[in-house]
Amino acid sequence: MNVQTECVSAALLLLLSLPLLFVASAATLPAHGQRIRSEALKRLLEVFGMEDVPQSPHTVRQPPQYMLDLYNTVAGVDGLTKEPALLLGNTVRSFLDRARSYQSQFYFNLSSVARSETILTAELHLFKLRGRPSQDLRTHRHHFCQVSVYQILDNNTSTAEGRRLLSTRVLPVHDSTWEVFTITNAVYDWTQDKDSNKGLLVTVRTLAGQTLNYIHFATGRDHHSSKQPMVVLFTDDERRGAPISISSIETQFLPEMTLHNKASQSRNTRSANLLGCQRYPLYVDFEEIGWSGWIISPRGYNAYHCKGACVFPLGQNMRPTNHATVQSIINALKLTNGVATPCCVPDKLFSINLLYFDDDENVVLKQYDDMVAGSCGCH
Ligand SMILES: *[C@@H]1O[C@H](CO)[C@@H](O)[C@H](O)[C@H]1NC(C)=O
Ligand SMILES: *[C@@H]1O[C@H](CO)[C@@H](O)[C@H](O)[C@H]1NC(C)=O
Ligand SMILES: *[C@@H]1O[C@H](CO)[C@@H](O)[C@H](O)[C@H]1NC(C)=O
Repeated sequence: MNVQTECVSAALLLLLSLPLLFVASAATLPAHGQRIRSEALKRLLEVFGMEDVPQSPHTVRQPPQYMLDLYNTVAGVDGLTKEPALLLGNTVRSFLDRARSYQSQFYFNLSSVARSETILTAELHLFKLRGRPSQDLRTHRHHFCQVSVYQILDNNTSTAEGRRLLSTRVLPVHDSTWEVFTITNAVYDWTQDKDSNKGLLVTVRTLAGQTLNYIHFATGRDHHSSKQPMVVLFTDDERRGAPISISSIETQFLPEMTLHNKASQSRNTRSANLLGCQRYPLYVDFEEIGWSGWIISPRGYNAYHCKGACVFPLGQNMRPTNHATVQSIINALKLTNGVATPCCVPDKLFSINLLYFDDDENVVLKQYDDMVAGSCGCH
């Protein structure tokens, strides 16, 4: 094993192996290769916090515009995070009202949210339709209405025990827009105990408290799907920058890699050594991996990789640590046996965002730390 391969990190090894695995079609891979291929994909899924590949949606579904806008706000080219502080937590999910409920009651199935996730905030998004007053002159004069959202606790929602007030707002009667209500308390209950989810009740009253029955919200049943009621949930799964384990990957992938790549690698290594430690492109193509069915955006991203020698003298462009500088000197002077040159590794990492359909066909936006090498240095 030469010095160069010792420096290659497990994550990089995994990514470098992928093109090899997909160039050879599954049928031509020997059994050993098949095993490595599925192991590699499983590890890559783990990096994205999943156990299995989500089912691709059965029908062509248009993701909610809100989620597309959110993705475009937080993510730039290739899903790269624009501004780390923009997103609250690292996961945003949207849920549609699958029960296609009646006018005033809504049900959202949040069973895909793990109990361990930290619930940050949950919102009910309702598209309010323009109020069309009847001939009834008593209701005609209202310009404002009070909209209240309740958590249904019991099947008789007319009793105080049957419901809990979550949020209430005064809105202009004649507006036709999206309205957002905070429902965090209810969603917290539902994620702790799935059976407690009996849905939401929405009431509309005059400011004096009389029921107003000509104010409606768009429903999945009666209106265009782009105006469906939706719950948007912001959570954090506490997976910040977790390092991936190197145990079995390293031993499994090294022989395969060097075998496939021997000729080109020695040539690349030679030219990389001349240039010294540098950042090179490494495009991860989700279509090539077979994930384009469930990932909405991006199509792939540039993870970059670090390559090149860290030999004495280390210039400032190699961003050496003091430790690396000393190590390169010891190595050059051959003062002590068995001291290798320092490693060329990412010294700044950026996060990326993924917008995808989960198993329940809900749209999820997730942010992953430490996915893109921002720069390389000798360490
Ligand atoms: C909620 O979704 C899960 C997973 O798709 C499903 O197993 C469950 O039956 C659903 N619950 C209800 C009440 O629809
Ligand atoms: C109320 O709900 C309970 C279960 O939560 C059910 O057993 C009961 O039949 C319901 N009552 C009515 C009047 O629907
Ligand atoms: C619900 O509770 C109210 C108030 O106690 C009562 O008048 C009404 O009959 C109840 N409705 C049902 C369906 O049980």
